[in-house]
Amino acid sequence: MDFLQLFLFILPAYFANALPVVFGGRTPIDLGNRFTDGFRLLGHGKTFRGFLAGVTGGTLAGLALALASGTNIPGYTLEEKTAIAFLLSVGTMVGDVAGSFAKRRLGLKQGEKMQLFDRLPFLLFALAFALAGFPALAKQVGLDGLAFLIILTLVLHRIFNAIAHHLKLKLVPW
Ligand code: CTP
Ligand code: MG
Repeated sequence: MDFLQLFLFILPAYFANALPVVFGGRTPIDLGNRFTDGFRLLGHGKTFRGFLAGVTGGTLAGLALALASGTNIPGYTLEEKTAIAFLLSVGTMVGDVAGSFAKRRLGLKQGEKMQLFDRLPFLLFALAFALAGFPALAKQVGLDGLAFLIILTLVLHRIFNAIAHHLKLKLVPW
């Protein structure tokens, strides 16, 4: 896949990662429970609504992309592209939860900055889920593609969170 195709391929994961900020809230996934270390399991920033918004929005974004552009993820049917978007979105939300779990175990409060755990787990989980369902994607993305996606994600995450902060969607610019 070339850079544009890689970008279109991963876009559903970015949608899944961003939508909870707008549509999330209310009941936290950990239901307020604490881990054995006394800190919250995940914290109030991981909610059921946010998780579902991410999965639904990311999948729909993938479907829309597949309908709009025949060139995204070459060689797959509309159904397969939608399934890939679904897996990317579920992986994104699971990775997001895993990142918060790790942050809480390190004693970081909700919303506290932790560059790597804020910015990368969602991408790696999204890719792992998509590749688990469609192993041929591994070759299509390749190691150079993976490197490109990591760098792209680090850069875009920074830019979008700064914008979200500016729009007062997020209290902190990360
Ligand atoms: N959000 C949500 N449900 C999710 C993920 C995110 O409702 N599953 C919403 C929450 O309002 C959250 C905001 O999106 O505060 C930003 O998400 P994120 O930066 O991932 O969470 P933080 O609040 O920074 O918490 P953490 O320190 O655990 O990352
Ligand atoms: Mg955060």
